[in-house]
Amino acid sequence: MEEKKKLLEELEKQCSSCSRCGLCRGRHNVVFGVGNPEAEVMFIGEGPGEQEDLKGEPFVGKAGILLDKMLTAIDLDRNKNIYIANIVKCRPPQNRDPEPGEQDICIAWLRRQFAVVRPKIIVCLGRIAAARIIKPDIRIKREHGTVIKKGGVLMMPVLHPAALLRNPSDKPGAFQDFLDLQKLIRENCEHTYDGIPQYD
Ligand code: URA
Ligand code: SF4
Repeated sequence: MEEKKKLLEELEKQCSSCSRCGLCRGRHNVVFGVGNPEAEVMFIGEGPGEQEDLKGEPFVGKAGILLDKMLTAIDLDRNKNIYIANIVKCRPPQNRDPEPGEQDICIAWLRRQFAVVRPKIIVCLGRIAAARIIKPDIRIKREHGTVIKKGGVLMMPVLHPAALLRNPSDKPGAFQDFLDLQKLIRENCEHTYDGIPQYD
C-alpha cells in the first residue's frame, strides 16, 4: 500500500534535480505530479505554465481551476482518487509547446510514474499529450471522447481545459466526455468510486 507512495517520492526527488534537457534552465520548480499513488485513473497534460512553475504542482492556474470543476462534477479529486502529471516537467519559455526532442527526453519520467501507478485508464488532456500517448496524428477536435485500449490500458483524449477557456462553446462536448469517462471508470475500476453513491 505504502510502496507506490515511497517509489513515487523517490522518483520525484531524483526528478527535482534533472537537467537532461534545456527546459531545466528557465524553471523555478520541477512539476512532477500530484495525486493518489494508488489511483486507477491518470490524467496527463502537456507541461507546466507560469503558475505551475511557481507552485510546483500541475494544473493550478486558470485552466486547472476549470479542470478541478470538471473533475468534481464526476466525483474525481486530485487529492483523493486520481493522479495528474504532464509530458514535460519543466515550464517551456513563454508557454510554447514542448519540442518533440524535449518530450522524448522527459517522457522517461512519465514512463516511470506510469510503471509505479499502473493506472487502468489514461486521460490525455489536449492534443500534445494525446499525440504522444495515443497516436501521433490524433485530431483532437474530432476524436476527443473516443476510447482505445493500448497495452491493456484504456485511453481517452479530451479537449485541454485551456482550449475550453478560449472556446467556451466546446464546453458541453467536453463535459459529455467526462460523463462518458465516469461510466468507463464505473465499468473498469475497482476502488476509484469507493464510498461514492451512484444516482442513475
Ligand atoms: N497545462 C498543462 O498542460 N499542464 C499543466 O500543468 C498546466 C497547464
Ligand atoms: Fe528534466 Fe524533463 Fe525538466 Fe527536461 S523538462 S530538465 S527532462 S525534468
